[in-house]
Amino acid sequence: MSPSQPLLSPDSSAVSMQHQWLPFTPNREFKDDPRLFGSARDQYFYDLDGRPVLDAGSGLFTTPAGHCRREIADAVHAQLLELDFTPSFLRAHPKSFELSNRLVELLPAGMDKLFFVSSGSEAVDTAMKICLAYQRARGATGRSMFVSRERAYHGVNFGGVALSGMVNNRRAYGNVVHGVVHMRDTWMEENRFQVGQPQHGRERADDLLRLIQLHGAENIAACFVEPIAGSTGVLVPPPGYLERLREICTAHGILLVFDEVICGFGRTGRPFAAQSFGVTPDLITMAKALTNGAIPMAAVAVGRHVHDTIVDTAPDGAIEFFHGYTWSAHPVSCAAALAALDIYRDEKLFERAHAMSGYFLEQVATLRELPVVTDIRGYGMIAGVDIQSDGVPGRRGHLLQKQLFDAGVHLKTTGDCAILSPQFIFEREHIDKTVDIVRSTLASFEA
Ligand SMILES: Cc1ncc(COP(=O)(O)O)c(C=O)c1O
Repeated sequence: MSPSQPLLSPDSSAVSMQHQWLPFTPNREFKDDPRLFGSARDQYFYDLDGRPVLDAGSGLFTTPAGHCRREIADAVHAQLLELDFTPSFLRAHPKSFELSNRLVELLPAGMDKLFFVSSGSEAVDTAMKICLAYQRARGATGRSMFVSRERAYHGVNFGGVALSGMVNNRRAYGNVVHGVVHMRDTWMEENRFQVGQPQHGRERADDLLRLIQLHGAENIAACFVEPIAGSTGVLVPPPGYLERLREICTAHGILLVFDEVICGFGRTGRPFAAQSFGVTPDLITMAKALTNGAIPMAAVAVGRHVHDTIVDTAPDGAIEFFHGYTWSAHPVSCAAALAALDIYRDEKLFERAHAMSGYFLEQVATLRELPVVTDIRGYGMIAGVDIQSDGVPGRRGHLLQKQLFDAGVHLKTTGDCAILSPQFIFEREHIDKTVDIVRSTLASFEA
């Protein structure tokens, strides 16, 4: 099919694909050989012919409670008819305060201020600004550098790209924002095929110390890490690693930021990975599952000490933080988020994720028997399966993702890694089916 040829939409009217430029997609290839979803329900997407495709990626880590939840749809519908928009500057509406209160109940103690935005990338850039504003407010005006990590993904806005450690994302735009230095990631040969927290690598946290020795703590504002580096292939922190980062940051006046855009909302078996790993950062970014993926929304949770330093030092009547978006705390997003949080609570979905994790990881680990599989990592309800490259990095992963769709499973691949992140409403049979299809699809890949 050529881009200008019409394709059939779900309602059978002809729709041309030629005018949309798709993100993170080889556009020409996709339009020649498209894979579209027409509908979704519970654990499944359906293609335009109504063929079910099991959602083993929770959409894009977004939809742990399953698709097309009526409770969220009803809340959104009702909100649209009651209050469809509120300017986010100098005006507010009750649901955003209600949502803040609900999130504080889920967050680690002391993280009790919420700043709302609309995407993970906005959350990361907002968090960077909060760190800078905090350091300035306490008189540490020289602290403008950030420490991040190789193989990190922090979204696509300029701040987040500078933090990121993925070469293709950085190549053209990674050096526009200066002053970001990177620690090594936590992947280690010795840890291959260990699911759960891997044994080795705690000492990699001392990379932060080396960067402090090189650049001077008095120049560093914050250290950003994903507790589990998700998008680059599920790199689980070894025991003691996050604890050590916390220790070093505290000793040197550096803020610690957990980017929990993927980990947040039960993916690690607790509301946030901060709780799973027992380490409380100063800021947490969250997005994706906040509304079960139904409406764009994200947030930055901020430790009270950080918030109060910024807000309490500003002159009376002054705007304390020059930042915000038209869509910050949009009432419809808030309604969707509140409905999603109700589902998570009422159906005990975080507990369910915790309970299902053992079985999930056990089943994924059986893929080790395939010669083409070179490593498996996982924690909670997320796992990464590395496959041997065919010499062109990412080519096989891309092919795998297409073949899996055709075989009836949706999941994300990054490079040559398949990332399994099942919905929390998956039963064992859904996990079995996912692993069976991944296994039979990989069986045709030569080692
Ligand atoms: C850890 C992390 N941070 C930030 C982002 C960016 O989120 P968004 O795509 O909503 O901008 C992502 C997206 O996958 C992510 O995984």
